[in-house]
Amino acid sequence: MTLDPARTPFPDGFLWGASTAAHQIEGNNVNSDWWRKEHDPAAKIQEPSLDACDSYHRWEQDMDVLAELGFTDYRFSVEWARIEPARGHFSRAEIAHYRRMVEGAIARGLRPMVTLHHFTIPQWFEDLGGFTAEGAVELFARYVEECAPIIAEGVPYVCTLNEPNMIAVMAGLAKRGEQGFPPAGLPFPDEETTHAVIAAHHAAVKAVRSINPDIQVGWTIANQVYQAVPGAEEVTAAYRHPREDVFIEAACGDDWIGVQSYTRTKIGPEGPVPAPADAERTLTQWEYYPAAVGYAIRHTAELIGPDTPLIVTENGIATGDEQRRIDYYAGALDAVAACIEDGIDVRGYLAWSALDNYEWGTYKATFGLIAVEPGTFARKPKPAAHWLGGLGRERHLPRL
Ligand code: FCB
Repeated sequence: MTLDPARTPFPDGFLWGASTAAHQIEGNNVNSDWWRKEHDPAAKIQEPSLDACDSYHRWEQDMDVLAELGFTDYRFSVEWARIEPARGHFSRAEIAHYRRMVEGAIARGLRPMVTLHHFTIPQWFEDLGGFTAEGAVELFARYVEECAPIIAEGVPYVCTLNEPNMIAVMAGLAKRGEQGFPPAGLPFPDEETTHAVIAAHHAAVKAVRSINPDIQVGWTIANQVYQAVPGAEEVTAAYRHPREDVFIEAACGDDWIGVQSYTRTKIGPEGPVPAPADAERTLTQWEYYPAAVGYAIRHTAELIGPDTPLIVTENGIATGDEQRRIDYYAGALDAVAACIEDGIDVRGYLAWSALDNYEWGTYKATFGLIAVEPGTFARKPKPAAHWLGGLGRERHLPRL
């Protein structure tokens, strides 16, 4: 499938970008809960993150490559475990590090979208009990306030928490003694965590707005594209609500909402129905389904209403087949274009992910537009990076 080159519904200022998350690319995030988990045999994590892509030191190179490819936007996260390694101790050096990243992005013509929390927390916060602990919301809000020097100027978009629904699902798993990243379909989220992260988000929105009211603040929701088997429409709606809708509804009044989707999940009268045995699957075992993002956008828009713009903040495929990666992006962008043509206010498309990175337990799920050579950390853009970056260049920047 190819995107019709004559089709250009993407509005001016559309975000053409790629996304990453600190823990997945920086390396040696030793004060985080994930680092500890990765080194706990009981957690049965396939492999630890260790040096990851060494982006903590090589972020300039990452940004150089993205800008050269033609991208205009870069979403990255700042790491709470580095910024506040001990409770109440805020590292001026780490804050300066992330400020340099913001300035480095701007200098290269990349608009920075900064995520304040992407799954990982400092170990001291985990020891306290995480988001459901007493005072947790205030502690998160204080961390956000301390990020002021990073985001106060030149950052058009801030995401408070990435995929709060996955945080609640993972908390539910942990309470049942299971670890790791949940399968598509998703176990029931922990309700206490749901309430806590929604409160944390609202407090963070307030804090960001008090830092600079011009910052567009929102959060990003994992959308599983639950599709009802005929007759199971009500079951599907009930299944979806605590896993997704409650988090979309909590974004009412935000400046934008992030849509993140990869595949679909069929729901029958008894719950999730696995994809047929002969369905094409990606390296994460998810069904190959590039149309997912279109369903995710339409569902989100319907729920949040016309006043909140949408940004696709993650979408992509784990594959070793580079033609299939391009096919996936072309199919997905076709779906995004159709949503815009139907009048939905979609403001951007950020691919997941800029780099092959640490996919929460494994390096084998290669989502990257750019390959990273193990050991040397050399960056090598893949064909999809040139294809997608080219779209950014052609459709966004004036031709010379
Ligand atoms: C999302 C996460 C991101 C990455 C992709 C594949 O759920 O936000 O960190 O793991 O899935």
